[in-house]
Amino acid sequence: MENKSYFIDTYGCQMNLADSELVKTLLMDAGYQPASKLESADAIFVNTCAIRDHAEQKVHSQLGRYSKIKESRRNIIIGVLGCMAQSLKHDLLEKKPYVDIVLGPDSYRKLPDLLNRVHIDQSSVVDTTLSRYEVYDNLYPSRQEGINAWISIMRGCDKFCTFCVVPFTRGRERSRNSESIIKEAKKAVIDGFVEVTLLGQNVNSYEYNGYKFHQLLEKVAQVPSLKRIRYTSPHPKDITNDLLDVMASNDNICKNIHLPLQAGNDKILNRMNRTYTRKYFLNLVDNIRQTIPGVGISTDIIVGFPGETDIEFQDTIRVMENVKFDSAFMFKYSSRRGTKASEYEDHINDTEKQERLEKVIELQKMHSLERNNALIGKHEIVLVEKNSKKSTNKWAGRTDTNKWVIFDKEDAQIKDMVKVEITDSTGVSLRGALVKE
Ligand code: 5AD
Ligand code: SF4
Repeated sequence: MENKSYFIDTYGCQMNLADSELVKTLLMDAGYQPASKLESADAIFVNTCAIRDHAEQKVHSQLGRYSKIKESRRNIIIGVLGCMAQSLKHDLLEKKPYVDIVLGPDSYRKLPDLLNRVHIDQSSVVDTTLSRYEVYDNLYPSRQEGINAWISIMRGCDKFCTFCVVPFTRGRERSRNSESIIKEAKKAVIDGFVEVTLLGQNVNSYEYNGYKFHQLLEKVAQVPSLKRIRYTSPHPKDITNDLLDVMASNDNICKNIHLPLQAGNDKILNRMNRTYTRKYFLNLVDNIRQTIPGVGISTDIIVGFPGETDIEFQDTIRVMENVKFDSAFMFKYSSRRGTKASEYEDHINDTEKQERLEKVIELQKMHSLERNNALIGKHEIVLVEKNSKKSTNKWAGRTDTNKWVIFDKEDAQIKDMVKVEITDSTGVSLRGALVKE
């Protein structure tokens, strides 16, 4: 077979990054090699995200770029993968005839076969069926060398938050065999990775034959030579005391929880179908902080959900002030076709959403700075991850609470766990100096 090359552009969440690594394995099995750049690839794929309109727009403009490349190189294959494939397959095929392949998140195993069919009849090929079972077990991802290996442990979501398109684009919840997850973690260590992040749309609702998330996490923590374990994203409703106990009692499980709040008002939380109240969330935060002292807590916040009045929005501000998250991803509500919230009749105008967004961003900046300043003078264990962007004489690494620290390299090496005294902070990162013992 002549040597064909591929290029994959990946948008969206870490699940998509992990999925692209699976797709790479499938492409290599089909005889494709990685291309050095997009323009020279024989097959170009975009792994897409449908979570907000902004994410979709980015993919559309990228597809525009591919179509130009195809005008001059007619034989290249263009493939759309992931969450947008699912929801936009008709639109893509009708309005974007240059797209050859459309594959939803559960159909990647068909890729080698489809590539062959494209070679034969040049017609477009689509498969966006969702599976109740596909977890891509026994398909080892092609990871780039590095510090962290993403390990997908469950797929899909059954929570149906009314704003969210994920249950429609990625289908029902299903968990992977725990043995095969442990095997993959061990292999990642042999391949040189020192950290793994367990991934799932709803990672802590993992359950395989009665085996629960905290049991899996504890088992992964026992993998020899694994320096750090992280996981994302959990749902607040599925955080159990067992999980917090496992986190507190295993040094290599990072003391960090991403705890999406979304909104701080009970009426809005109810309309979002988040299944918890403001009080439940605040109690949970207290419980987490008591069980895991020094834990980092980050969050996701949506402003301008349909029907959110200014007074209700103030409740989100109040919860933020109460918790003082270490960091936050903050979004304007974006209406998604097919979701329940898109049918609500009291959507908020964009100006209002923008104003609220700016308010939460400003507030979060202050909180991040305050949390970071509190670490000045403290000693933190940092995993050395990469060169600092600004200086090749400095390393950048993370604390286990997920804060970036920049410090002089001295004799520290990539992948070392080092003790660093925090000397300064900004809202975004920390500065420090190696502690000699
Ligand atoms: N509009 C805005 N933000 C959204 N998110 C999910 N769906 C939407 C939407 N329709 C946010 C949530 C979620 C994060 C991954 O993306 O905050 O936690
Ligand atoms: Fe979307 Fe809610 Fe499921 Fe998260 S838990 S993927 S926000 S439906």
